[in-house]
Amino acid sequence: MSTTTTPPLQIVQGMAAAQAHAYLVAAIPATQRCDYEYATPYEILHFDSDLRDAGIPIRRWILGDSKDPLATAFCFRATWNTPRHTFWGHVRVRPDAMGQGYGSMLIQAMEHWAATAGAQAVRLLAHPEPRHNTFLTNAGYVHIGTEQIYRVLLADITMPKRPDASNITIMTLAEYMQREPDAIEQACMLHAAVSLDVPMPDEPVVTLSKFRRLLGEEVNPSCFLLAVSGDMLVGESILMDSESEPGVMWQHATGVLPSFRGQGIATSLKREAIRLAQSLDTRELKTWMETSNASIVKINQEFGFTKVDGAGSTILMYEHLITHGGGNRY
Ligand SMILES: CC(C)(COP(=O)(O)OP(=O)(O)OC[C@H]1O[C@@H](n2cnc3c(N)ncnc32)[C@H](O)[C@@H]1OP(=O)(O)O)[C@@H](O)C(=O)NCCC(=O)NCCS
Repeated sequence: MSTTTTPPLQIVQGMAAAQAHAYLVAAIPATQRCDYEYATPYEILHFDSDLRDAGIPIRRWILGDSKDPLATAFCFRATWNTPRHTFWGHVRVRPDAMGQGYGSMLIQAMEHWAATAGAQAVRLLAHPEPRHNTFLTNAGYVHIGTEQIYRVLLADITMPKRPDASNITIMTLAEYMQREPDAIEQACMLHAAVSLDVPMPDEPVVTLSKFRRLLGEEVNPSCFLLAVSGDMLVGESILMDSESEPGVMWQHATGVLPSFRGQGIATSLKREAIRLAQSLDTRELKTWMETSNASIVKINQEFGFTKVDGAGSTILMYEHLITHGGGNRY
Protein backbone atom coordinates (compact mmCIF):
# COMPACT_ATOMS: atom_id res chain seq x y z
CA MET A 1 0.00 0.00 0.00
CA SER A 2 1.42 3.43 -0.85
CA THR A 3 0.64 6.58 1.06
CA THR A 4 1.07 10.13 -0.16
CA THR A 5 1.36 13.10 2.12
CA THR A 6 0.63 16.66 1.12
CA PRO A 7 3.69 18.82 1.70
CA PRO A 8 3.14 21.59 4.25
CA LEU A 9 1.91 24.94 2.95
CA GLN A 10 3.33 27.76 5.03
CA ILE A 11 2.71 31.49 5.16
CA VAL A 12 6.15 33.10 5.33
CA GLN A 13 7.66 36.54 5.89
CA GLY A 14 11.03 38.24 6.09
CA MET A 15 14.27 36.43 5.34
CA ALA A 16 12.69 32.95 5.29
CA ALA A 17 10.27 34.06 2.58
CA ALA A 18 12.91 35.97 0.67
CA GLN A 19 15.38 33.08 0.62
CA ALA A 20 12.81 30.48 -0.44
CA HIS A 21 11.34 32.64 -3.20
CA ALA A 22 14.75 33.76 -4.48
CA TYR A 23 16.01 30.17 -4.51
CA LEU A 24 13.24 29.03 -6.84
CA VAL A 25 13.53 32.09 -9.11
CA ALA A 26 17.33 31.85 -9.35
CA ALA A 27 16.99 28.31 -10.69
CA ILE A 28 15.03 29.37 -13.78
CA PRO A 29 16.39 31.31 -16.78
CA ALA A 30 15.76 35.07 -16.71
CA THR A 31 13.61 34.78 -19.85
CA GLN A 32 11.11 32.64 -17.92
CA ARG A 33 10.69 35.03 -15.01
CA CYS A 34 7.75 37.37 -14.54
CA ASP A 35 7.46 40.89 -13.16
CA TYR A 36 8.15 41.14 -9.41
CA GLU A 37 9.96 37.81 -9.35
CA TYR A 38 13.44 38.45 -7.99
CA ALA A 39 16.41 36.12 -7.83
CA THR A 40 18.01 37.62 -4.70
CA PRO A 41 16.63 37.74 -1.14
CA TYR A 42 17.77 41.35 -0.90
CA GLU A 43 15.44 42.49 -3.70
CA ILE A 44 12.51 40.55 -2.23
CA LEU A 45 13.03 41.98 1.25
CA HIS A 46 13.01 45.52 -0.18
CA PHE A 47 9.98 44.83 -2.33
CA ASP A 48 7.96 43.48 0.60
CA SER A 49 9.02 46.09 3.12
CA ASP A 50 8.18 48.93 0.70
CA LEU A 51 4.66 47.52 0.26
CA ARG A 52 4.22 46.92 4.00
CA ASP A 53 5.48 50.40 4.87
CA ALA A 54 2.91 51.83 2.44
CA GLY A 55 0.14 49.79 4.12
CA ILE A 56 -0.37 47.53 1.09
CA PRO A 57 -1.45 43.98 2.00
CA ILE A 58 1.08 41.39 0.81
CA ARG A 59 1.48 37.71 1.62
CA ARG A 60 3.91 34.97 0.57
CA TRP A 61 3.57 31.19 0.74
CA ILE A 62 5.92 28.28 0.33
CA LEU A 63 5.04 24.67 -0.23
CA GLY A 64 7.42 22.05 1.16
CA ASP A 65 10.91 22.56 2.51
CA SER A 66 11.85 26.23 2.81
CA LYS A 67 15.45 25.43 1.74
CA ASP A 68 14.27 23.83 -1.49
CA PRO A 69 10.57 24.62 -1.97
CA LEU A 70 8.32 22.69 -4.32
CA ALA A 71 6.36 25.84 -5.07
CA THR A 72 5.99 29.45 -3.97
CA ALA A 73 3.34 32.13 -4.33
CA PHE A 74 2.88 35.75 -3.44
CA CYS A 75 0.02 38.20 -3.68
CA PHE A 76 -0.44 41.91 -2.98
CA ARG A 77 -2.96 44.63 -3.68
CA ALA A 78 -2.19 46.36 -6.98
CA THR A 79 -1.19 49.97 -6.48
CA TRP A 80 -1.56 51.27 -10.04
CA ASN A 81 -4.31 51.94 -12.58
CA THR A 82 -6.15 48.65 -12.25
CA PRO A 83 -9.84 48.68 -11.24
CA ARG A 84 -10.26 49.11 -7.47
CA HIS A 85 -9.83 45.98 -5.35
CA THR A 86 -7.54 44.28 -7.88
CA PHE A 87 -4.80 42.10 -6.42
CA TRP A 88 -1.65 40.92 -8.11
CA GLY A 89 -0.64 37.31 -7.71
CA HIS A 90 2.08 34.94 -8.74
CA VAL A 91 2.56 31.18 -8.44
CA ARG A 92 5.76 29.34 -9.33
CA VAL A 93 6.09 25.54 -9.19
CA ARG A 94 9.48 23.82 -9.39
CA PRO A 95 9.71 22.21 -12.87
CA ASP A 96 10.11 18.66 -11.52
CA ALA A 97 7.12 19.11 -9.18
CA MET A 98 4.63 20.20 -11.86
CA GLY A 99 1.47 18.25 -12.56
CA GLN A 100 0.79 17.26 -8.92
CA GLY A 101 -1.80 19.88 -8.07
CA TYR A 102 0.58 22.17 -6.16
CA GLY A 103 -0.14 25.17 -8.39
CA SER A 104 -3.88 24.78 -7.80
CA MET A 105 -3.32 24.57 -4.02
CA LEU A 106 -1.39 27.81 -4.08
CA ILE A 107 -3.89 29.59 -6.34
CA GLN A 108 -6.64 28.60 -3.92
CA ALA A 109 -4.67 29.80 -0.90
CA MET A 110 -3.75 33.04 -2.64
CA GLU A 111 -7.28 33.82 -3.77
CA HIS A 112 -8.75 33.00 -0.39
CA TRP A 113 -6.34 35.37 1.33
CA ALA A 114 -6.88 38.06 -1.33
CA ALA A 115 -10.65 37.78 -0.82
CA THR A 116 -10.19 38.30 2.93
CA ALA A 117 -8.18 41.44 2.11
CA GLY A 118 -10.99 42.75 -0.11
CA ALA A 119 -10.05 41.46 -3.57
CA GLN A 120 -12.64 41.47 -6.33
CA ALA A 121 -10.14 40.29 -8.91
CA VAL A 122 -6.74 38.64 -8.99
CA ARG A 123 -4.43 39.23 -11.93
CA LEU A 124 -1.23 37.43 -12.74
CA LEU A 125 1.29 37.01 -15.54
CA ALA A 126 2.30 33.88 -17.42
CA HIS A 127 4.60 33.12 -20.30
CA PRO A 128 2.70 31.91 -23.36
CA GLU A 129 2.95 28.15 -22.97
CA PRO A 130 -0.04 25.84 -23.55
CA ARG A 131 0.33 24.22 -20.10
CA HIS A 132 0.18 27.63 -18.38
CA ASN A 133 -2.91 28.55 -20.37
CA THR A 134 -4.61 25.24 -19.54
CA PHE A 135 -3.75 25.56 -15.85
CA LEU A 136 -5.02 29.13 -15.62
CA THR A 137 -8.14 28.50 -17.69
CA ASN A 138 -9.02 25.59 -15.39
CA ALA A 139 -8.56 27.91 -12.41
CA GLY A 140 -11.04 30.39 -13.94
CA TYR A 141 -8.53 32.90 -15.37
CA VAL A 142 -9.12 34.81 -18.61
CA HIS A 143 -6.42 36.39 -20.79
CA ILE A 144 -6.91 40.18 -20.59
CA GLY A 145 -3.69 41.72 -21.89
CA THR A 146 -0.21 41.24 -23.28
CA GLU A 147 3.15 42.69 -22.33
CA GLN A 148 5.47 42.67 -25.29
CA ILE A 149 9.08 43.60 -26.01
CA TYR A 150 9.63 45.97 -28.95
CA ARG A 151 12.95 47.00 -30.45
CA VAL A 152 14.42 49.44 -32.92
CA LEU A 153 17.90 49.56 -34.41
CA LEU A 154 19.17 53.12 -34.10
CA ALA A 155 20.26 52.94 -37.74
CA ASP A 156 16.60 52.34 -38.73
CA ILE A 157 14.91 55.06 -36.64
CA THR A 158 12.23 57.18 -38.29
CA MET A 159 11.49 60.48 -36.57
CA PRO A 160 7.73 61.15 -36.11
CA LYS A 161 6.27 64.11 -37.99
CA ARG A 162 4.66 65.49 -34.82
CA PRO A 163 6.49 68.69 -33.77
CA ASP A 164 8.36 68.90 -30.46
CA ALA A 165 6.25 70.10 -27.54
CA SER A 166 6.48 73.85 -27.08
CA ASN A 167 7.53 75.47 -23.77
CA ILE A 168 9.18 72.27 -22.62
CA THR A 169 12.87 71.71 -21.97
CA ILE A 170 14.28 68.21 -21.99
CA MET A 171 17.28 67.64 -19.72
CA THR A 172 18.85 64.82 -17.76
CA LEU A 173 18.35 64.34 -14.05
CA ALA A 174 22.11 64.82 -13.67
CA GLU A 175 21.74 68.32 -15.20
CA TYR A 176 18.62 69.07 -13.15
CA MET A 177 20.53 68.10 -9.98
CA GLN A 178 23.05 70.83 -10.76
CA ARG A 179 20.21 73.35 -10.92
CA GLU A 180 17.81 72.32 -8.14
CA PRO A 181 18.83 71.27 -4.62
CA ASP A 182 15.73 69.06 -4.28
CA ALA A 183 15.98 67.59 -7.79
CA ILE A 184 15.88 63.98 -6.54
CA GLU A 185 12.77 64.59 -4.42
CA GLN A 186 11.05 66.22 -7.41
CA ALA A 187 12.05 63.43 -9.78
CA CYS A 188 10.87 60.85 -7.24
CA MET A 189 7.45 62.53 -7.03
CA LEU A 190 7.18 62.53 -10.83
CA HIS A 191 8.27 58.88 -11.04
CA ALA A 192 5.67 57.93 -8.41
CA ALA A 193 2.93 59.79 -10.32
CA VAL A 194 3.88 58.20 -13.64
CA SER A 195 4.12 54.74 -12.04
CA LEU A 196 0.43 54.97 -11.15
CA ASP A 197 -0.42 54.92 -14.86
CA VAL A 198 2.16 52.58 -16.33
CA PRO A 199 0.38 49.27 -17.04
CA MET A 200 3.08 47.32 -15.16
CA PRO A 201 5.18 49.68 -13.03
CA ASP A 202 8.76 48.60 -12.33
CA GLU A 203 8.15 49.52 -8.70
CA PRO A 204 4.61 49.26 -7.29
CA VAL A 205 5.58 51.63 -4.48
CA VAL A 206 8.00 54.48 -5.13
CA THR A 207 9.56 55.75 -1.94
CA LEU A 208 12.36 58.29 -1.73
CA SER A 209 14.74 55.77 -0.20
CA LYS A 210 13.98 53.24 -2.93
CA PHE A 211 14.35 55.91 -5.60
CA ARG A 212 17.73 56.97 -4.20
CA ARG A 213 18.77 53.32 -4.15
CA LEU A 214 17.77 52.93 -7.81
CA LEU A 215 19.85 55.96 -8.73
CA GLY A 216 22.80 54.56 -6.82
CA GLU A 217 22.57 51.07 -8.25
CA GLU A 218 20.72 50.70 -11.52
CA VAL A 219 19.71 54.04 -12.98
CA ASN A 220 22.29 56.57 -14.14
CA PRO A 221 21.05 60.17 -13.59
CA SER A 222 22.74 61.05 -16.91
CA CYS A 223 20.40 58.59 -18.65
CA PHE A 224 17.27 59.74 -16.82
CA LEU A 225 15.49 62.23 -19.09
CA LEU A 226 13.11 64.82 -17.71
CA ALA A 227 10.63 67.13 -19.43
CA VAL A 228 10.59 70.44 -17.59
CA SER A 229 7.82 73.03 -17.93
CA GLY A 230 8.68 76.25 -16.05
CA ASP A 231 9.54 75.01 -12.57
CA MET A 232 7.63 71.73 -12.91
CA LEU A 233 8.82 68.26 -13.86
CA VAL A 234 6.13 66.90 -16.16
CA GLY A 235 7.59 63.88 -17.95
CA GLU A 236 10.29 61.23 -17.73
CA SER A 237 11.96 58.51 -19.73
CA ILE A 238 14.78 56.30 -18.45
CA LEU A 239 17.50 54.54 -20.44
CA MET A 240 19.33 51.60 -18.89
CA ASP A 241 22.14 49.47 -20.28
CA SER A 242 21.15 45.89 -21.00
CA GLU A 243 22.88 43.58 -18.54
CA SER A 244 23.24 40.81 -21.12
CA GLU A 245 23.48 42.48 -24.55
CA PRO A 246 26.29 44.94 -25.31
CA GLY A 247 25.17 47.94 -27.39
CA VAL A 248 21.55 47.53 -26.28
CA MET A 249 19.71 49.96 -23.99
CA TRP A 250 16.28 49.51 -22.43
CA GLN A 251 13.87 52.41 -22.35
CA HIS A 252 11.71 52.38 -19.21
CA ALA A 253 9.00 54.48 -17.61
CA THR A 254 8.24 56.92 -20.41
CA GLY A 255 5.45 58.91 -18.88
CA VAL A 256 3.90 62.34 -18.76
CA LEU A 257 1.74 63.87 -16.02
CA PRO A 258 -1.93 63.46 -16.97
CA SER A 259 -2.66 67.16 -17.40
CA PHE A 260 0.29 67.57 -19.80
CA ARG A 261 -0.54 64.68 -22.15
CA GLY A 262 -1.36 65.07 -25.85
CA GLN A 263 1.14 67.93 -26.43
CA GLY A 264 3.93 65.84 -27.91
CA ILE A 265 5.97 65.67 -24.68
CA ALA A 266 6.47 61.90 -24.76
CA THR A 267 7.53 62.17 -28.39
CA SER A 268 10.07 64.86 -27.46
CA LEU A 269 11.40 62.71 -24.61
CA LYS A 270 11.80 59.78 -27.01
CA ARG A 271 13.58 61.93 -29.61
CA GLU A 272 16.03 63.12 -26.96
CA ALA A 273 16.48 59.57 -25.65
CA ILE A 274 17.46 58.46 -29.14
CA ARG A 275 20.03 61.26 -29.44
CA LEU A 276 21.41 60.30 -26.04
CA ALA A 277 21.56 56.61 -26.96
CA GLN A 278 23.36 57.49 -30.20
CA SER A 279 25.94 59.50 -28.26
CA LEU A 280 26.57 56.42 -26.07
CA ASP A 281 27.31 54.15 -29.05
CA THR A 282 24.09 52.25 -28.62
CA ARG A 283 23.06 50.00 -31.49
CA GLU A 284 19.55 49.12 -30.41
CA LEU A 285 16.78 50.30 -28.09
CA LYS A 286 14.31 47.91 -26.49
CA THR A 287 11.18 48.56 -24.50
CA TRP A 288 8.31 46.67 -22.89
CA MET A 289 4.83 47.76 -23.96
CA GLU A 290 1.37 46.69 -22.92
CA THR A 291 -0.19 46.14 -26.35
CA SER A 292 -3.47 47.87 -25.42
CA ASN A 293 -1.64 51.09 -24.38
CA ALA A 294 -2.68 52.87 -27.59
CA SER A 295 -0.77 56.14 -27.19
CA ILE A 296 2.65 54.63 -26.44
CA VAL A 297 2.14 51.93 -29.08
CA LYS A 298 1.41 54.66 -31.62
CA ILE A 299 4.45 56.75 -30.62
CA ASN A 300 6.84 53.78 -30.62
CA GLN A 301 5.58 52.54 -33.98
CA GLU A 302 6.18 56.01 -35.45
CA PHE A 303 9.82 55.75 -34.33
CA GLY A 304 10.08 52.35 -36.03
CA PHE A 305 9.89 50.01 -33.02
CA THR A 306 8.80 46.51 -34.03
CA LYS A 307 7.70 43.47 -32.03
CA VAL A 308 10.38 41.06 -30.81
CA ASP A 309 9.77 37.33 -31.14
CA GLY A 310 11.61 34.77 -29.07
CA ALA A 311 12.01 33.46 -25.53
CA GLY A 312 10.68 35.76 -22.87
CA SER A 313 9.54 38.56 -25.20
CA THR A 314 5.80 38.10 -24.64
CA ILE A 315 4.07 37.80 -21.26
CA LEU A 316 0.34 37.29 -20.97
CA MET A 317 -1.80 38.91 -18.30
CA TYR A 318 -4.71 36.92 -16.86
CA GLU A 319 -7.53 37.82 -14.50
CA HIS A 320 -9.93 35.92 -12.28
CA LEU A 321 -12.92 37.69 -10.80
CA ILE A 322 -13.43 36.64 -7.18
CA THR A 323 -17.01 35.99 -6.23
CA HIS A 324 -16.42 34.20 -2.93
CA GLY A 325 -13.60 33.44 -0.56
CA GLY A 326 -12.66 29.90 -1.56
CA GLY A 327 -12.38 27.01 0.76
CA ASN A 328 -9.26 26.55 2.86
CA ARG A 329 -7.85 28.16 5.94
CA TYR A 330 -4.92 29.88 4.22
C1 LIG B 1 1.88 57.24 -23.14
C2 LIG B 1 2.19 58.67 -22.73
C3 LIG B 1 3.64 58.70 -22.23
C4 LIG B 1 2.03 59.61 -23.94
O1 LIG B 1 2.43 60.93 -23.53
P1 LIG B 1 1.99 62.23 -24.39
O2 LIG B 1 2.92 63.32 -24.02
O3 LIG B 1 0.55 62.44 -24.25
O4 LIG B 1 2.34 61.73 -25.88
P2 LIG B 1 2.42 62.65 -27.19
O5 LIG B 1 1.64 63.88 -26.97
O6 LIG B 1 3.85 62.77 -27.58
O7 LIG B 1 1.72 61.73 -28.27
C5 LIG B 1 0.55 61.13 -27.95
C6 LIG B 1 0.04 60.52 -29.27
O8 LIG B 1 -0.69 59.37 -28.92
C7 LIG B 1 -1.98 59.51 -29.47
N1 LIG B 1 -2.94 58.85 -28.63
C8 LIG B 1 -3.34 59.17 -27.39
N2 LIG B 1 -4.30 58.33 -26.97
C9 LIG B 1 -4.49 57.47 -28.00
C10 LIG B 1 -5.36 56.38 -28.21
N3 LIG B 1 -6.22 55.99 -27.25
N4 LIG B 1 -5.32 55.72 -29.40
C11 LIG B 1 -4.44 56.08 -30.35
N5 LIG B 1 -3.58 57.12 -30.21
C12 LIG B 1 -3.64 57.80 -29.05
C13 LIG B 1 -2.24 60.98 -29.50
O9 LIG B 1 -3.29 61.24 -30.40
C14 LIG B 1 -0.92 61.51 -29.94
O10 LIG B 1 -0.77 61.38 -31.33
P3 LIG B 1 -1.18 62.63 -32.32
O11 LIG B 1 -0.35 63.78 -31.88
O12 LIG B 1 -0.80 62.10 -33.67
O13 LIG B 1 -2.60 62.86 -32.13
C15 LIG B 1 1.21 59.15 -21.62
O14 LIG B 1 -0.11 58.86 -22.05
C16 LIG B 1 1.44 58.53 -20.27
O15 LIG B 1 2.20 59.05 -19.46
N6 LIG B 1 0.80 57.38 -19.99
C17 LIG B 1 0.99 56.68 -18.73
C18 LIG B 1 2.36 56.02 -18.64
C19 LIG B 1 2.52 54.96 -19.71
O16 LIG B 1 1.64 54.17 -19.97
N7 LIG B 1 3.73 54.91 -20.32
C20 LIG B 1 4.07 53.94 -21.32
C21 LIG B 1 4.49 52.66 -20.74
S1 LIG B 1 6.13 52.68 -20.15
